[in-house]
Amino acid sequence: MAEREIWSVEKIRNLFDLTGKTAIVTGGSGAFGHDAAKGLAAYGANVVVTSRRAEKIEAAAADIAGATGAKVKAVSCDVIDPDSVEAMVQETVTEFGGVDILVTAAGEADRHPAEEFPIDAWQKVMDSLVKGTYLCCQSAGRQMIKQGGGKIITVGSVRGELGHPGGYSAYGTAKGAVHLLTKQLSTEWAKYHINVNSIAPCIFWTPLTQQVIEDPELKKIFLSRIPWGRVADPQDFIGAVVFLASAASDFVTGEIMAVDGGSTAG
Ligand SMILES: NC(=O)c1ccc[n+]([C@@H]2O[C@H](COP(=O)([O-])OP(=O)(O)OC[C@H]3O[C@@H](n4cnc5c(N)ncnc54)[C@H](O)[C@@H]3O)[C@@H](O)[C@H]2O)c1
Repeated sequence: MAEREIWSVEKIRNLFDLTGKTAIVTGGSGAFGHDAAKGLAAYGANVVVTSRRAEKIEAAAADIAGATGAKVKAVSCDVIDPDSVEAMVQETVTEFGGVDILVTAAGEADRHPAEEFPIDAWQKVMDSLVKGTYLCCQSAGRQMIKQGGGKIITVGSVRGELGHPGGYSAYGTAKGAVHLLTKQLSTEWAKYHINVNSIAPCIFWTPLTQQVIEDPELKKIFLSRIPWGRVADPQDFIGAVVFLASAASDFVTGEIMAVDGGSTAG
């Protein structure tokens, strides 16, 4: 049996340190993406924030760099366009020398009764969440394979585990696919030392949940299902993102980590 390495206390204290690592956060101007990027930057990572609109990600990058002192670059990218995704990953490699961490927080939502869901609207949700997540994982994953490892964190949802009467036949289906994609990639890429995990949040208030915010009855139903008694705040996800991006989670892969105030516990 190989000799067991006994970790020094210094190594244990530094388990969450991301100094010298490079992270890509898609949807980096959105609520989840912005705070995820800020968390990674606060622990020492260089960060590329991406989204479609240059002015929004440039503002997010300036805000995060100003708050943390980290190197933060804004790169425009449409996650459903393979060439755009590949160009964004290559720009990251050129700027920072590699990609160690990917967080896939870009996406759109829509709700309609299943019997009426326009198929184009259904496909749009599937594309942004499933195809977009896959393309980013594939492109960053190729780079991580070359580098000998990396950390991928997809963004799932409570809706990927549980049905809901509120018109989630696109969003819930897409998130279920993101969860299984996470598990699939974790098994395929373990041999390359790439950890692939997902964070599955409960609801929080963003442009993505505008339709729920505007419906007081639905809002009440959502709140009644969260034992913690409140919706999430995007800052609630920072700890999980840093954990899954760092050496602290080196033996954790294929995990769908609920950060949901207990929504899926009972
Ligand atoms: N808000 C919630 O209640 C909730 C709950 C569970 C999971 N999530 C998930 O968290 C993630 C982030 O959501 P959010 O609430 O922060 O939403 P948000 O609307 O604040 O951010 C989403 C971001 O994705 C970007 N985006 C959308 N399509 C894109 C594309 N094709 N290419 C590039 N960028 C694109 C948007 O421009 C925006 O910056 C999503 O995957 C969402 O499904 C959100």
